[in-house]
Amino acid sequence: MSTSVADTAKGAAGGHETAARAVSLVKTYGMGEARVVALDGVDVSIGRGRFTAVMGPSGSGKSTLMHCLAGLDTVSAGRVWLGEREITGLNDRQLTRLRRDHVGFMFQSFNLLPTLTAEENITLPMDIAGRKPDREWLREVISTLRLGDRLRHRPSQLSGGQQQRVACARALAARPDLIFADEPTGNLDSRSGLEVLQFLREAVDGLGQTVVMVTHDPNAAAHADRALYLADGRIVDEMARPTAESVLERMQIFATGPKAAQPLPATGAGPSPNADSNPAPDPDPDSDSDSEPPTAPRPATDPPTGPASSPDAPRNG
Ligand SMILES: Nc1ncnc2c1ncn2[C@@H]1O[C@H](COP(=O)(O)OP(=O)(O)O)[C@@H](O)[C@H]1O
Ligand SMILES: [Mg+2]
Repeated sequence: MSTSVADTAKGAAGGHETAARAVSLVKTYGMGEARVVALDGVDVSIGRGRFTAVMGPSGSGKSTLMHCLAGLDTVSAGRVWLGEREITGLNDRQLTRLRRDHVGFMFQSFNLLPTLTAEENITLPMDIAGRKPDREWLREVISTLRLGDRLRHRPSQLSGGQQQRVACARALAARPDLIFADEPTGNLDSRSGLEVLQFLREAVDGLGQTVVMVTHDPNAAAHADRALYLADGRIVDEMARPTAESVLERMQIFATGPKAAQPLPATGAGPSPNADSNPAPDPDPDSDSDSEPPTAPRPATDPPTGPASSPDAPRNG
């Protein structure tokens, strides 16, 4: 049995490899009265080979955190590392290259080019970079995502779930160090969404990838090894081995009032920040599907957002 999940809590104590890290990260938008503090001193480490969910109400800074960690956006203060490399201070050209070589992205809107086939979409980032895909890896990704018989199709000939699987394959194709997914199931029906989540899980367990997924859906977060909670631009809590029930419970505590919850002084610090934060740990984290399927309603704290976040679009939710 894989020990990656079992080691999660111990690994959080520190000393294990991080795929991305931020220290005292601050991001503000605008000036004067229009100034918005999107991130207000975030310290976070993303474990390599792990699946991390980033949760929180609309406007809490989830997308901003993802963009800052991925080098899609500059920071106002603080420092960010991708792997061993500090990215704060890099210029646009250096950031572009770093993203191209080390980061894969998935968004709520699949962002596929309509005139290209599925296969062409999958290899597009590498084609642009002038890199030859590793054919064996690509075959593995395509078969994992069950896209073998869809490669010649254009996006319009594919279902939403299939399109997101193509986007997932595109994110994986260059074998990035880190995949960032911003509400990747937000536009999918629950069944296609579940498939995409299972593929992301498989990318971590089977292919050794690192995934950071922004979501406000407890059912989606339950696929992750760890859930981080953002509120007003700060990480206010985290949970190892989240289940849909425990995530929902936590969200309700936060929705009821900040006093009800005990924010942690620092994420990932201390020997076992989650020791008592998960009142009913699932003895087997992979057995979610055996228990009662969570049918929790969407929490009222984060209504479904409008247009998908994209690096260039204004983000208001
Ligand atoms: N490009 C931007 N310009 C101005 N404000 C922004 C921009 N992007 C995000 N914000 C603001 O920053 C805060 C955090 O936004 P965001 O990271 O998109 O939150 P989330 O993804 O959790 O919904 C919000 O108040 C949002 O309105
Ligand atoms: Mg967002």
